[in-house]
Amino acid sequence: MHVDLTTPHARALGEVLSELGSWQRDGLPVQLHPGDLGWQWRFGPAALAGALRVWTANGTVVAIGLLDEGSLVRMGVAPSADQDEGLARILLRDLEDPARGVLTGDKPIVEARFGTVFRSLLRRRGWIDDEPWTPLVRDLRSPVETPRVRVETVGHERVADRVAVQRAAFDRSTFTAGRWTVMSRSPAYRHARCLVGYDDRDNAVAAATVWSAGEGRPGLLEPVGVHRDHRGRGYGTAITLAAASTLRDMGASSATVVTPTSNAGAVATYASAGFRRLPAVTDFALVR
Ligand SMILES: CC(C)(COP(=O)(O)OP(=O)(O)OC[C@H]1O[C@@H](n2cnc3c(N)ncnc32)[C@H](O)[C@@H]1OP(=O)(O)O)[C@@H](O)C(=O)NCCC(=O)NCCS
Repeated sequence: MHVDLTTPHARALGEVLSELGSWQRDGLPVQLHPGDLGWQWRFGPAALAGALRVWTANGTVVAIGLLDEGSLVRMGVAPSADQDEGLARILLRDLEDPARGVLTGDKPIVEARFGTVFRSLLRRRGWIDDEPWTPLVRDLRSPVETPRVRVETVGHERVADRVAVQRAAFDRSTFTAGRWTVMSRSPAYRHARCLVGYDDRDNAVAAATVWSAGEGRPGLLEPVGVHRDHRGRGYGTAITLAAASTLRDMGASSATVVTPTSNAGAVATYASAGFRRLPAVTDFALVR
C-alpha cells in the first residue's frame, strides 16, 4: 500500500474538516472531531495547518493527526481503516521516527481512541498507557431539558463575556477577542456556536462552544467552563444542557465531550446534564 504523509496547505483546511466530519458516527469511539480543529483555529489557519498531518492512500484521506508541541499527536482514523493492519504499521512507523516530523519530543504521546488494529499495534510495540480520558455522550433524539439559567448564543457583540469566562475558567487560558474573531471567521465556525450563561445579576458565569459535524452526526462540546468565582451553583450543568440543546437544534444526533478522568468535577457535571459516561480510554506514551 502506498501512503503519503503531508502537512496541508491552509487553503485545504476546509477539505480536512469535511473529511474528519464524515468520520463522526454514533456508536463509534469518540475520536478527533472537526470541533477540535475549529477550537485550534483561534491561533490562525497557518498555525493550524502547520500542526496537522494528513495520511492519504490512493487519494483518499485515511488518517489525520493534530500535533501539540511536537510531543503529542491526536489521531483521527477513517472508519474504513479500523481493521487495516498495513495502514496501522505505516502510521506507527511515521510516529516512531522523529525524522518524519510528526512526533519530535522526548516523550511522545499518541491519542488514538479509534482504530482497533492501530491501538493493539501500539501496545504490542511497547507503547504504554498514559493519561486516562473519559468520553461522555448524550443522545439527542429526545428534547433536552431547559436549563435553569439564562444562556445566550453570543457573537462578536458579546465577545468580551465569552473571553472573560474562558480566562476565569481555565488558569492558563490565552484567549482574547482577537483570537475569537479569527476562530469565528473560519469555515469550522460555520458549524459552531458560542454560548454564555448569565446569573440573575447579569454576570457572565459560564461558557461553552459547540461544534456540529453535520446533520445526523455527533457534535462536540469544546470547551466548557465556569468562572472560578461562580462554581458549585449549577452553572456547569446549565451550560452543558444548553450546549446539548443547541447541538440538537443544529441537527446533531448526539452530543459528545471528553475530559481527563482525573477532572472529577467535569465528569460529574456532564453526568448531571444527562451525559452517559463511557469507559475511560488512555493515551499511549513511548519512553525512548
Ligand atoms: C467542571 C466545571 C465546569 C463544573 O462547573 P460547576 O458550575 O462548578 O458545576 P455544577 O455546580 O453545575 O455541578 C454539577 C455537578 O458536578 C458536581 N461537581 C462540581 N464540581 C465538582 C468537583 N470538583 N468534584 C466533584 N463533583 C463536582 C456537583 O456536585 C454537581 O453534581 P450533582 O448535579 O450530582 O449535584 C468547573 O469546575 C470548571 O469550569 N472547571 C474548569 C474548567 C474545566 O475543567 N472544564 C471542563 C473540561 S473541558
